[in-house]
Amino acid sequence: MSLAAMGRDGLQVEAVPLSVLAARFGTPCYVYSRAALTAAYAAYRDALQASGLLDRALICYAVKANSNLAILNLFARLGAGFDIVSGGELARVLAAGGRADQIVFSGVGKSRAEMRAALEAGIHCFNVESASELDQLSEVAGSVGRRAPVSLRVNPDVDAKTHPYISTGLKTAKFGVAFGEAFDLYRRAASLPHIAVKGIDCHIGSQLLDPAPAAEAADKVLALVDRLAAAGIALEHIDLGGGLGIQYQADEPAPAAADYLAPMLAKLAGRREKLIFEPGRSLVGNAGLLLTRVEVLKHGEAKHFAVVDAAMNDLMRPALYDAWHEIARVGADTAATGTTTPEAMTYEIVGPVCESGDFLGHDRQLALREGELLAILSAGAYGMAMASNYNSRPRAAEVMVDGQAMHLIRRREEITELFALESVLP
Ligand code: LLP
Repeated sequence: MSLAAMGRDGLQVEAVPLSVLAARFGTPCYVYSRAALTAAYAAYRDALQASGLLDRALICYAVKANSNLAILNLFARLGAGFDIVSGGELARVLAAGGRADQIVFSGVGKSRAEMRAALEAGIHCFNVESASELDQLSEVAGSVGRRAPVSLRVNPDVDAKTHPYISTGLKTAKFGVAFGEAFDLYRRAASLPHIAVKGIDCHIGSQLLDPAPAAEAADKVLALVDRLAAAGIALEHIDLGGGLGIQYQADEPAPAAADYLAPMLAKLAGRREKLIFEPGRSLVGNAGLLLTRVEVLKHGEAKHFAVVDAAMNDLMRPALYDAWHEIARVGADTAATGTTTPEAMTYEIVGPVCESGDFLGHDRQLALREGELLAILSAGAYGMAMASNYNSRPRAAEVMVDGQAMHLIRRREEITELFALESVLP
């Protein structure tokens, strides 16, 4: 939440005022802080270090949260591995300088082409989610003359207590191998010539604020690991997924990484397996914001609307999950019109897209002028990564601030690029 601080020239990220970024790169624009990304990674590393587990742990950043090459490259430089869910994400990680042997590949529907690409790249492990996927992977591995390193993603049937769309650990979810079937599937995996059983994996959901469900899942996973060991199947690593939530609202009780991990790390302390975590949101969410400009103030009969130049296509979370993002005036902004101080009103902050679901915030008490800048906070995770071109809107620019430096890490799309792949009929 607290990425932007108030400075002499209004809100700023690190040493750069947001008004300077808007003037230089335009709006809407995603702004990230290198220092905040680095600090978020360090929180995981320090927690593992403090438990004496760092030398056998791998932090695999969940690429889906934000897949910009500069962000992937930054995490690769910090020593991270990566959790991918597609051939596209594999290509991004490799293009960004990530190490193939530190990649884990999750997902319920990997295509044969994706399996082949990952095998050829030499990834660390496939997180297999079904019996059929295991057979397909074995077949593909055989056809390219390799053994596929495999974990089974087990579904522990634990309620993560989060939004149903991002809850993945209940037996009603499409994710993972049913807990009761995992043991037998491991036995089968161990018998397949082109499969190398390496580990176990579990991920119960996202935006988790309570460490208890993840700890409960870890208990189940560890019991299964021990049962497998007793049956002669010794696993090399335990992957406990991602899921740590972040603070979107001031009163949201988001735990620090160390506190969230503590109950899990306590259970893992005396063991010999390597550990993997797959954090996404908690590494990038509060390291990014979406900068937007107020186009129009519209005072309707029942509501006051602030129409801004960002919309649901840029940040889909409010429309999709009714998610709450803090929205702050940037202030000290010369482009705003009017000299008298405007009256604070309860605004609907909405975009220009032609849907009533196109809102970025409901009922926000703000004193606004047309033309001024707003910062939509906590937008670093699942913001740009889920952006679309709906309404033929070019996707926003992305900028990384590093001290006083600003780096354009993705230029704004040009309108002609939006239909460059299309053809009219002959
Ligand atoms: N590992 C697996 C297998 C996952 O499916 C996910 C997220 C992660 C790791 C990373 O979870 P995180 O640490 O970010 O919670 N679009 C939604 C979130 C979807 C999460 C999908 N899976 C949102 O904007 O809230």
